[in-house]
Amino acid sequence: MTAMAQASAGSSLSNRRLRIRRPDDWHVHLRDGPMLQAVVGHTARQFARAIVMPNLRPPITTVAAAVAYRHRITAALRASEGEWKAAGFTPLMTAYLTETLPPAELERGFAEGVFTAAKLYPAGATTNSDAGVRDPLHIASALETMERIGMPLLIHGEVTDPAVDIFDREAVFIERHLVPLLRRHPELKVVLEHITTAEAAQFVAEGPATLAATITPHHLHINRNALFQGGLRPDFYCLPVAKRERHRLALRAAATSGNPQFFLGTDSAPHPRHAKEAACGCAGIYNAPFAIESYAVVFEQENALERLEAFASINGPRFYGLEPNEGQLELERQAPNDDEPGVPLILQLANGTATPTALVPFHAGEQLPWRVVL
Ligand code: DOR
Ligand code: ZN
Repeated sequence: MTAMAQASAGSSLSNRRLRIRRPDDWHVHLRDGPMLQAVVGHTARQFARAIVMPNLRPPITTVAAAVAYRHRITAALRASEGEWKAAGFTPLMTAYLTETLPPAELERGFAEGVFTAAKLYPAGATTNSDAGVRDPLHIASALETMERIGMPLLIHGEVTDPAVDIFDREAVFIERHLVPLLRRHPELKVVLEHITTAEAAQFVAEGPATLAATITPHHLHINRNALFQGGLRPDFYCLPVAKRERHRLALRAAATSGNPQFFLGTDSAPHPRHAKEAACGCAGIYNAPFAIESYAVVFEQENALERLEAFASINGPRFYGLEPNEGQLELERQAPNDDEPGVPLILQLANGTATPTALVPFHAGEQLPWRVVL
């Protein structure tokens, strides 16, 4: 019997294989319509559950809209092809906080198991955030309700003040909005999403157990230089934008530290190629196709492969008060091999229409040493 087969709990690692509990993605954009059909399989192939972001047009602001969206996701899954379908996939829905969303709607959606959490987008901070919140003080009663019922608040933590430099918007948000918000709502469970700075990592690590953060694969791999490497590179543009190298290193330290306040959230955000490579290109990196492989590379480089399972499969469910998944996911390490096709430069994905969706995946053109064994 191999060491891997003997292990009954925790991850197991041989030279070439890593087996972990099936991971979850605590932050993903699945979109809707043909795009949803094109991308949903990439997430479901590796993750058992995912927190699905509500920034559609119009945004998901009612229980009924979330139920209908959940149906569309499961229908899109049924229409997809793939061996991974046997493992099952559960979308966890979120409400999009507006200044007029009745707290009773949040409470009902949470009680009925429709809303797992609610997302705070500062108005104007990112894709489809116009209907978001101008000041967290304007949603005080919603936050009180969430605090009382134990419903997590997920935050896009960037100020929108045009006077603040774009690279400082996360750090300023923490000081200006997050510190006072946590003081006003000390029991509220809060996830600071897709953190990008040393300041955020430190703030979360020093915070209470009710405060956590997701970390994306791209912010662990790239710093802001990637945006300008050999020319303007729209495929590395996302929000919050990648920061200096010292921040990337701090994020890698946080993700691989074993601290249960940090967990996996890809922020995979597909935009069609033509919308990224445009005069005013959209923010978002499509990392879903090779997400767990991308994290495995980072954990291996940091000599922390034995902590990948906690980050990917344990810390998230613990924070959300859910059981970790029963199933397993296996990754295989392959020696560098020029004959392997590697990550495609462009994906042409079937989407139920006559014209496939063209997307540039994160790591396009690279050989990744890890691959999921299905
Ligand atoms: O880069 C991003 N893309 N950041 C976000 O916050 C939103 C996302 C999207 O929906 O495209
Ligand atoms: Zn996002």
